[in-house]
Amino acid sequence: MSPTPAIPGAVPTPPNLGVRFAGVGSALPSKPLTNADLEQLMDTSDEWIVQRTGIRSRYIVDHERGESCLTLATAALRRALDEAHLAPTDLDLIILATMTAEMSCPPTSCRLAADIGAGTIGAIDVTAACCGFVYSLNTAYALIRSGLYRSIAVVGADTLSQYLTYDSSGRSTAILFGDAAGAAILRATDDTNKGLIAQAMHSDGARWVDLYIPEDLDRDFPEGHEPSPEHLKRVQMNGRGVFKFAVGTFSDVIQQTLHQAGLAATDIDMFVCHQSNARILSAARDRFGLSEEKLYINIDRVGNTVAASVPLCLDELTKAGRIKEGDKVMFVAFGGGLTWGTSLWQL
Ligand code: UT7
Repeated sequence: MSPTPAIPGAVPTPPNLGVRFAGVGSALPSKPLTNADLEQLMDTSDEWIVQRTGIRSRYIVDHERGESCLTLATAALRRALDEAHLAPTDLDLIILATMTAEMSCPPTSCRLAADIGAGTIGAIDVTAACCGFVYSLNTAYALIRSGLYRSIAVVGADTLSQYLTYDSSGRSTAILFGDAAGAAILRATDDTNKGLIAQAMHSDGARWVDLYIPEDLDRDFPEGHEPSPEHLKRVQMNGRGVFKFAVGTFSDVIQQTLHQAGLAATDIDMFVCHQSNARILSAARDRFGLSEEKLYINIDRVGNTVAASVPLCLDELTKAGRIKEGDKVMFVAFGGGLTWGTSLWQL
């Protein structure tokens, strides 16, 4: 009997392979915005901001210089490709996690693919707020393990400054966020020891009003959350609600992932966490008895950079030699949606 001919475009049988991080990169915009700068713009103080958030400075895009979510994503991805010694045409797919796409159509990832010269490869935007990069890592891993793709760029880029108000009316959110991008190249490898060990992805859409950006007035908003015209395209946040949610959920999802993996917190070489508030991160450190070295905090310099915060930390830690091949690294994030998730890797 002759063998069944392969169907063109058919899904391959999942091969036995691992997935590795081949390169990482990041980019910050050119405009620093310190707490002292904010004191000039609104009724706030360096002391209030540092005490409540741990943030001292952040960077925001300078539109006059042409900076945007796309240009930051492009710079970060180019750096990741350089580090991986790969050409843009070596990529099979780009996943861009962002909630500040240039436009609702086209996907910003398509322009990113074109701008770096990746040809006509697939390109998708993933919108999962601050969880976008972590969700995308898990997705990219599954796509590579399935045998469908071999090299995927996962990028997190956000410029939330465009949805903030830099006067006293917006002080509760303007102090928190900064703009940035980070990228990682994931590749198939014959080393089956490398790859995802465990992961979690969750959402609770019933709590969407805790963090949202109203686009127009003609929607159904719950009582007490009806936006007025000045709230349109401006971040609305229940800071205390998100804070309480984050402190509990952050630790719980780490515990759940460790349990799934059969590991203890002390087995993890580095926790790379979404930078939302230094107090939330310190609470997680305390709960698991982690040293400062094992749970990285850079929010003091860059603020909360939404989907960029995890890959930005990853890039800084890698460049500093604090994350290396063979390490176990847990990525953790939570944010609007509400969403929360993890991605635990054997590098
Ligand atoms: O990526 C995930 C996204 N979000 C988060 O992770 C946010 C989590 N939440 C937080 O980090 C904190 O809730 C904030 C830092 C946003 C706020 O801290 P808080 O301790 O929860 O303050 P609050 O919102 O309860 O406000 C306390 C007071 C209020 O004044 P009254 O009503 O007590 O007189 C605010 O009007 O602080 C006032 N306030 C400020 N004062 C000086 C709010 N923003 C400012 C400000 N400067 N920038």
